[in-house]
Amino acid sequence: MTKKLFIKTHGCQMNEYDSSRMADLLGDSHGYILTDNADEADVLLLNTCSIREKAQDKVFHQLGRWKKLKAKNPDLKIGVGGCVASQEGQAISDRAPYVDMIFGPQTLHRLPQMLDASVQQVANTAGNRIAMVDVTFPEIEKFDHLPAPKSNGVTAFVSIMEGCSKYCTFCVVPYTRGEEVSRPFDDVITEVVHLAGQGVREINFLGQNANAYRGPRHDGGEADLAELITLTARIDGIDRIRFTTSHPVEFTESLVDAYLDVPELVSHLHLPVQSGSDAILSAMKRGHTAAEYVDKMERIRANRPDISFSSDFIIGFPGETEADFEATMNLIQTIGFDHSFSFVYSQRPGTPAATLEDTTPAATKKQRLAILQDRISQQAARISQNMVDSIQVVLVSERSKRNPGELQGRTENNRPTFFDYPGDDLIGKFVQVHVTDAFANSLRGDVINADLAY
Ligand code: SAH
Ligand code: F3S
Repeated sequence: MTKKLFIKTHGCQMNEYDSSRMADLLGDSHGYILTDNADEADVLLLNTCSIREKAQDKVFHQLGRWKKLKAKNPDLKIGVGGCVASQEGQAISDRAPYVDMIFGPQTLHRLPQMLDASVQQVANTAGNRIAMVDVTFPEIEKFDHLPAPKSNGVTAFVSIMEGCSKYCTFCVVPYTRGEEVSRPFDDVITEVVHLAGQGVREINFLGQNANAYRGPRHDGGEADLAELITLTARIDGIDRIRFTTSHPVEFTESLVDAYLDVPELVSHLHLPVQSGSDAILSAMKRGHTAAEYVDKMERIRANRPDISFSSDFIIGFPGETEADFEATMNLIQTIGFDHSFSFVYSQRPGTPAATLEDTTPAATKKQRLAILQDRISQQAARISQNMVDSIQVVLVSERSKRNPGELQGRTENNRPTFFDYPGDDLIGKFVQVHVTDAFANSLRGDVINADLAY
């Protein structure tokens, strides 16, 4: 009987990507197929996130639920991967002894071997299991052991680098995912060509700091993100390029110029800033001032006047005053952000900021966050409203789930867009849509030019 795999993913797009790789690995090596029903699975994997406190609490809640499934089915295998696994390692097994495998973001390629060892061990020691734990950082090895990418859609994520060497004072990522390591340039290009051959039209380059990419080339040189984007744009079939996420300090002149030279690079940029206050930016060790950030964004906008910007914010970093918060609100106004991932600061054990005195009441932080999110929603609504009556290029991805008479896709600035269309022949194509209505999270319109010539 075919064995079934259930994966629960917490956290960022990097984790989503890693989860799909886990599915590919166990599919190719052991014939596992994915199920969305944990009750019928033979292997349960939890891909964890430790960026904030609540993310970590969720792990043991989830494992508690899975413990009951294991009581019913002793052959069930439970694995924990991701950043909590990387940080806690063996401690997970001490608290949840029914867990069979513990692996980090850099060792997920060893999952098939860990599973074999775990199965083997049950046979040998009659119930006396020890969890398989491997949360080391074997650097680039992971990239070399992943199966060829498969795609079932028009958009594909391609991992180009791993880890982070920025050590912002609040963040666990450098400790859980290790330092920055770039994937060889030729490997990335080969993967993109392969995906284009499968019908992919949009590539999203993934990395904790995608713009810190310095991929070794076969001629001994190094390629940066701008070079990668320029070459990717020349690959037949690939007509949209995004990258997630990036760091302001690594935003080089060549990348700013790419917005002028490469039309395939979307008119949307997510560039985390965290705060608009220089004092807080410095305490966070972000390596730039608010003015430097604004200057960079203005130069990008000069190259691409219709670009929209989104960002990450942390509210209530230790020592954040009312004036610091005002500075953040001013920055939001100046840039006119379209979207944000914004959260109250969460103290992370082992990070430098964890030792800072934090006197701001939790209620004040919550209130500031609500004000910030409200302002960004208003700005996003205004941008959507301004798109009404415009012509947008939409990459059609699928039939709408809520209305089978409609197709759906996304604009360059990432808005889900719906239009009436009976056939499926436009899926995977770029079309022009005349926008007629703007809603909170989507747009509606009429297709006016099906199948653009690119
Ligand atoms: N590489 C990216 C960020 C990756 S982490 C960068 O350059 O900023 C994703 C986001 O999680 C961060 O941008 C930050 O806004 C948030 N985050 C990280 N640590 C956090 C913490 N301790 N508390 C609250 N939010 C945090
Ligand atoms: Fe974290 Fe800063 Fe790196 S937010 S992922 S340490 S750039």
